[in-house]
Amino acid sequence: MTEHDVRKGLVGVVADVTAISKVNPETNSLLYRGYPVQQLAATQPFDAVAHLLWHGDLPTPSQLAAQRERARPHRALPAELREAIDRLPLDAHPMDEVRTAVSVLGALDTAGAASVLDAVGTPEQNLDRSLRLSAVLPAIVAYGQRRRRGLEPVEPRGDLDDAANFLWMTFGDEPHPVVADAFNRSLILYAEHSFNASTFTSRVIASTLSDLYSAVVGAIGALKGPLHGGANEAVMHVFDEIGDVANVVPWLDRALADKRKIMGFGHRVYKRGDSRVPTMKAALDTLVAHYDRPDVGDLYDTLEREFTQRKGIYPNLDYPSGPAYNLMGFDTVTFTPLFVAARVVGWTAHIMEQYAANALIRPLSAYDGPDERHVPGYVPEA
Ligand code: ACO
Repeated sequence: MTEHDVRKGLVGVVADVTAISKVNPETNSLLYRGYPVQQLAATQPFDAVAHLLWHGDLPTPSQLAAQRERARPHRALPAELREAIDRLPLDAHPMDEVRTAVSVLGALDTAGAASVLDAVGTPEQNLDRSLRLSAVLPAIVAYGQRRRRGLEPVEPRGDLDDAANFLWMTFGDEPHPVVADAFNRSLILYAEHSFNASTFTSRVIASTLSDLYSAVVGAIGALKGPLHGGANEAVMHVFDEIGDVANVVPWLDRALADKRKIMGFGHRVYKRGDSRVPTMKAALDTLVAHYDRPDVGDLYDTLEREFTQRKGIYPNLDYPSGPAYNLMGFDTVTFTPLFVAARVVGWTAHIMEQYAANALIRPLSAYDGPDERHVPGYVPEA
């Protein structure tokens, strides 16, 4: 293989087929199982979209009710998991906390523990694990934020949907419908995005016939980086650094002179705008109005206008999500764990798809190290 054959960053490589979602950068569109994500965000609760991603179709009312019934007991934080989380330092990054929590859940699920040969389990077991993980992650993320504030966990509310219950468990107040709606939309927009870095990581791990929890733990590790999911946290650091709309231009001049990457802008696949941004920007606008924070909207619009005019690079989903989560009251370090709680349904759909038609994912590399040489002092054995 020559250097010429290397596709660094796997740019442009089609690694497999998937029936879960379709990203079309030409039309700036994103379909989940054929449905435009904008239409799903406008009409569906998050768990109906989870059903769609896992099963291939939106649930009937009775299917959704049955899924909710199965999820209900898993929405509270299990005592043994709380104990494990409480052993972590309070200044651990919440992404490390969430990654560890999923790892603990994997160890507590002993169904496949007898042998590595049992790690994958049955499709029914994996569907059940997916549902349980998605049900408990809000409790993990909400408790993470609460324990950093010295607060006890809040019990889930059976009468609230996923988005409203997540906010309830984080803040201990029933959310305003405007806020719950914006949050629900963000979860749906974050739920799935084909072969992004974290999903691909989960598929690589699943392809070795490792278990679903291990694949999700790996995906969380990949999501943490600021070039991927960590960008929603990083966007808020940018907003905090700039502080006031009057500082946007001097801040940007300096940042570009320093060759900094502006977090929340750019995308490997979309080069003319991220299909999810208009929906999330509209949700941010409702929050700006609800909280009466026109300053946030002004800073957002000004930075977008200045940066996009200069560089021709457009915002990605993390750009509106960061300030939206800030307005809702989430701590900045909690933003990427929110992404985990949403994307887990996409990851698990992909892990199950990988198991169903598996081929070990194992690319090649082109070697450019030293030519073969002898270890000093080595004498061939007779
Ligand atoms: N700020 C400044 N310049 C940028 C940015 C940015 N945000 N994004 C791309 N560029 C520039 C690069 O410096 C590069 O310029 P050059 O050709 O002069 O060297 C050019 O645009 C191409 O950029 P690459 O990084 O090579 O493009 P790639 O497709 O690999 O990167 C990525 C995509 C990693 C998302 C990049 O745009 C980036 O780092 N953005 C900031 C981080 C971010 O917001 N990540 C979230 C991704 S979306 C998500 O996870 C929901």
